[in-house]
Amino acid sequence: MPMQHDAVEVISAKRDQHELSDSQIDWVIDAYTRGAVADEQMSALAMAILLNGMNRREISRWTNAMIASGVRMDFSTLSRPTADKHSTGGVGDKITLPLAPLVAACGVAVPQLSGRGLGHTGGTLDKLESIPGWRALLSNEEMMAQLESVGAVVCAAGDGLAPADKKLYALRDVTGTVEAIPLIASSIMSKKIAEGTGALVLDVKVGTGAFMKSIDAARELAETMVALGQDAGVRTVALLTDMSTPLGRTAGNAIEVQESVDVLAGGGPADVVELTLALAREMLAGAGRSDVDLADVLASGRAMDAWKAMIRAQDGDPDAPLPQARESHVVTAPSAGVLTRLDAMAVGMAAWRLGAGRARKEDPVQAGAGVVWHARPGDAVTEGAPLFTLLTDEPARFDRALESLEGGYDIAPADTPFTPAPLVIDRVG
Ligand code: URA
Repeated sequence: MPMQHDAVEVISAKRDQHELSDSQIDWVIDAYTRGAVADEQMSALAMAILLNGMNRREISRWTNAMIASGVRMDFSTLSRPTADKHSTGGVGDKITLPLAPLVAACGVAVPQLSGRGLGHTGGTLDKLESIPGWRALLSNEEMMAQLESVGAVVCAAGDGLAPADKKLYALRDVTGTVEAIPLIASSIMSKKIAEGTGALVLDVKVGTGAFMKSIDAARELAETMVALGQDAGVRTVALLTDMSTPLGRTAGNAIEVQESVDVLAGGGPADVVELTLALAREMLAGAGRSDVDLADVLASGRAMDAWKAMIRAQDGDPDAPLPQARESHVVTAPSAGVLTRLDAMAVGMAAWRLGAGRARKEDPVQAGAGVVWHARPGDAVTEGAPLFTLLTDEPARFDRALESLEGGYDIAPADTPFTPAPLVIDRVG
């Protein structure tokens, strides 16, 4: 039982730039989870943390207190090693979909507890729910059985995992306190450590479409999370990857599933393939299976077989046609030249406004909605040729989506030199 403290004492300490003691942290997380610290008190503390920060000891204690607020999963009885991936969220980020079955096909189990999208970044569960019949909710027993038989599970995190984070994240979302690095790091890592994976690869996005707009902030977040993972005995590394340009050629739900299936079939956009392989290599290394030839597993169709088995195990039909939006609108290139910039935030906002994402967590999403872009930075464009296709079931949404795309791309004269930015910027851990 944590020592007794007082909410105002803890808030004032952080407000006055003091370090919180271990027992203050244990108490405030436990009391907040039980409802003994009120939302308004926790939001004042979250704002004080955002403004004054926390040191590594405080972040580590905060993370452990959030883990202790719920249950911990245990995969140690599985016959395969486990590895998971977490992305801090981006536009067109469908990587989990080809990655989980690819790594599973290499003999490593992937227990991926995922979330739904909020705002302009998509959610993995929303994408998978566009597959007819597929269900996100599994019992722990079903998850274990699927990990043993198929090797990959992507499902919703149960209520028992880090409940303190669930409550605190919802509060941060409405109090302007999401962007605090100590709170983001502890939120993500409490769930991943409680999930019980043996190895973890963090895809920390940086750029206009990401939480972290600057490389320095992304590196600080990555270093903090890697340290938390390693302290907890989880082999953790992070890749810093670009999110100024959206990934692939689509942002939405069903259209991103299709793009992922294309990758598993040996095709798909080059950047999606590159990032999938880079993250898979790290996951295999963390699980002690660096000997596997990933390109061979992809080319042999074994990753596609694992995908189909993973979808079927969760009652989905991997061969059923995917839902399509009822309405489409094509945006053409206003001039000829070379596309030099495609802004991830602009595309993400357009997809969101078309109905692919939600404004509140209770809102439904449209399976067929989203944005397809027909050129990526570096591609030549012809005046009048399609640049974007916007998809939605509700044509009234087109105007707001078009507004989002205004100023979201640049077309320069054809002879303008263009150097593509690297997709994988750095590795931490
Ligand atoms: N994702 C999380 O799970 N928590 C955060 O705080 C931010 C992103």
